[in-house]
Amino acid sequence: MSQEKPQTNVMTAIYERRSIRHFLESPVDRKAVQEALRAASWAPSGLNNQPWRFSIIWDKELKDRLAGLTRYSKTLQGAGVLIAVFLDRDSSYDYVKDCQAIGAAIQNMLLSFEHQGLGAVWIGEILKNKEKVAAMLDLPERLELMAIVAVGEPAHREQTSHRRPVEELIIFEK
Ligand SMILES: Cc1cc2nc3c(=O)[nH]c(=O)nc-3n(C[C@H](O)[C@H](O)[C@H](O)COP(=O)(O)O)c2cc1C
Repeated sequence: MSQEKPQTNVMTAIYERRSIRHFLESPVDRKAVQEALRAASWAPSGLNNQPWRFSIIWDKELKDRLAGLTRYSKTLQGAGVLIAVFLDRDSSYDYVKDCQAIGAAIQNMLLSFEHQGLGAVWIGEILKNKEKVAAMLDLPERLELMAIVAVGEPAHREQTSHRRPVEELIIFEK
């Protein structure tokens, strides 16, 4: 790609997205969630097997109960909506590749929320209780929790993040 080309929306979203853990009380538009899930569903997957499944949780009582299963309870309680992301074992053909595909889907979802002016954070810490989450949501055995994404109107956008310089990350070039 030519260096002179202006940054596209996707590059802006990649660089400006931050993990948002504090939310305003304002509700999240269902259409925004549908759009983010559509973006997630357009992630690449091995053999195009699309192993991701989603649960959308608006219910306050259920959010509170899920919040009890992670040290990020305040983030889950404060979110307008939670999206639980699962691997469908019935669609799986290679565990590592399926997890990679689901990671790509989650990133697409985060970028879509960023693009739509919403804040979100990928909560992996709750995986220590993944069986309890599945039981709470009354889901079949074939669905394995991969993450919960907490979404809401950002309370602020002040947090910064950092990354190691790319030069430190390239281990070989010839
Ligand atoms: C696999 C994975 C698990 C994560 N789990 C959590 C989590 O449990 N709680 C949390 O607050 N953030 C979690 N995050 C978000 C990271 O902390 C965050 O992406 C990282 O600190 C960089 O910050 P940034 O996203 O604002 O650039 C997770 C991110 C990934 C990719």
